Parts: sequence; structure tokens; C-alpha cells
Amino acid sequence: MSTMKKIGILTGGGDCPGLNAVIRAVVTRAEQLEVEVLGVRGGWRGFLDNDTEVLTRARTRGILHEGGTILGTTRVNPFQEKGGAERVEAAVAAWKLDGLIAVGGEGTLSLASKFHDRGLCVVGVPKTIDNDLWGTEVTFGFDTAIEVATGLIDRLRTTAEAHERVMVVEVMGRHAGWIAIHAGLAGGADVVVVPERPTTVEEITKVVLMRRAEGKLFSIVVIAEGALIQEADAKEAHLVLTNKAPDAFGRPRLGGIGAHLAACIEDATGIESRVTVLGHVQRGGTPTARDRVLALRFGVRAMELLHEGKSGRMVALQADRIVDLPLNEATRQRKVVDAEWLALADIFCEGPALSKR
Ligand code: F6P
Repeated sequence: MSTMKKIGILTGGGDCPGLNAVIRAVVTRAEQLEVEVLGVRGGWRGFLDNDTEVLTRARTRGILHEGGTILGTTRVNPFQEKGGAERVEAAVAAWKLDGLIAVGGEGTLSLASKFHDRGLCVVGVPKTIDNDLWGTEVTFGFDTAIEVATGLIDRLRTTAEAHERVMVVEVMGRHAGWIAIHAGLAGGADVVVVPERPTTVEEITKVVLMRRAEGKLFSIVVIAEGALIQEADAKEAHLVLTNKAPDAFGRPRLGGIGAHLAACIEDATGIESRVTVLGHVQRGGTPTARDRVLALRFGVRAMELLHEGKSGRMVALQADRIVDLPLNEATRQRKVVDAEWLALADIFCEGPALSKR
């Protein structure tokens, strides 16, 4: 007999298509298990500001297909506020929560893991469009992001071809180039640049010029926002940041590398080069069916784990089965694009492996 009577749920970090599907799944399963659900608004901030909302099936009807999160999200870190962790624990006691489901990426899940170590009963649900969380083959939101990015690359291809331009497409991907590599492969990009493999401007322009010489007068270059680029006169590859202010987790606010690269290519080749930054378009809007179903599966299992009295676990997808693993294991390292994926990309696109031509 479970002692779980009331739980909280929060969504933290950057939003991602499928968050509402998780919330719906948790609430639906909770009601079947006779557990009440309190939504904590704005991620961990809701604990500090006493900002909550009772979640019922009625409240979570009609949200499955909606992007964003009905609970809102922030990157507030209670451990950075004076007495913040204690305030979270006091709120858990005051609201009579027996457990918490934290839906988020690396930052949110690391905080969940810290609270588990302090005695809170907490289960994590992994989310990120970047798909770079360890322990799960895929996170929901990723499929939507690559669908959006691929569709937009298809559109850019026709105009690139008409004007014989180089189109640089900047996609999201802070530490990992999963979106760039998947959308690049699906969209038939000529060059894919990912954070896992620093690239020189020369290597990229070589491809563009080689294509010209072969009569292919346009090129599509897909670059992840967190990729490292090295100019001819520079000692080492570097990030490019338009906005110097860090985000709430103290991380660099990425964005700008596409424009920088387009300028470098135009300078080096004399070919008109334009940039399109896909940005938050990849994160907004309705989730794909695949993301909705994965989010529902994660939500149901997270609720069941709490009900079984398990804590400090993260739900994950492995070999198409929903499994769970220790939160601290999942947050200890990152899942980045490996050599096998880079080799696949090199068969179709041109990376630094130009020697094959
Ligand atoms: O972590 C996911 C992500 O999409 C990263 O690729 C990107 O750097 C970040 O979110 C941007 O988030 P925000 O615009 O909310 O600061």
C-alpha cells in the first residue's frame, strides 16, 4: 500500500514540445492511483514564491498537443538564493507533498538530484530538444526540433539554389550537435558543423568552392550554435556569442555563430552568403506524435515510480523500453555525437574529412 497521497510537479529550464503531455500523463495516472497533484509554477521559483496550482484532469484536458508548459518555466536555482534549499523543503512540508516530479534538462535534474540527497523523494523526467542527456536514447522535444529544422532547410535550399548563394543555417545545440547532424542529414546539407568537432573556416570554404567547381552553385551549411570555429589567423577554435550576458544558470547565451561564419565564407570566397538562425522556432509549437507519445510514457512511469516509493531516479528510453536509472548517474555526463555519427555525416556531407574527395 503506497503512502503517496500528494505530489508536486515542476517544469524547469528551457521549454520543450511535450512538457504538457508529461503533465497530462502524470495527472491522469495520479488520479487513477488516488494521488493529488500540485503544479509548482515557474520551475523551482514556485517553491520560493509560493506559486502553485492544483492540477486535475479537468485542468489538463486539451493540452496534449500544445507546446510550452502550462506551469511556466524558469532557470531559478534555489541553491543560489539565501536559504533557498531550506525554503524549498519548508514548502514541501507546508504543502504536505510526499514526492516531487521534476521535468527538466541537465540543470533542473542536477538540482533534483541534490534535493534527493537531502532527503526529498524526487523522480526526474528528462527533457531537452538538444537530446544530450545521458542514459536515455532520446528526449521528447528532439523529434519536433529536427522536424522543424529539416522543413526549414528544405525551404532554404530552393532559395539558395535560385540565387546561387551559400546559406548558413544556425540550429540549437549547446554541447551536442544532434540537431545539426540529424537535420543536416535529413535536409541534405553540404556541411555540418557540430560542437564535438571544432572546424576551420578554410575547411568549410573548401567544400563551397569545390561544389562551385563541380557546377553546384549553392551550398547549405548547417551549424550548431555551440560549435567552435577557427579562422585562418586564429590560434584556436572559439565560440561566437552575440549576447555577452550569461543565462540564469551562468552559462553563455549562445547565438551568433551563423552570422559570423556566413561573413567569413563571403570574405574568403566572394560568394554571397546569408544566415538563417532557426532559434526558438525549434522549441516552440506543437509536438510531433512521437514526442507526445514518449512524453506520455515518461510521465506515467515517473508517477508510478513515486507511487512505488522510489526516489532519486530518472525515467529514460532504452531499446524502446521505459527504464529508470539513478539521477546522479544521468547528470554526471553528457551524451554527445560520437564517431559513428560523425562518420555517417561525412559520407553525405563534408566535415573536416575532405581527404576522401
Ligand atoms: O538547452 C536547450 C537549448 O535549446 C540550447 O540549445 C540553447 O542554448 C538553450 O536551450 C537556449 O535557451 P534559452 O533561449 O531559453 O536561454
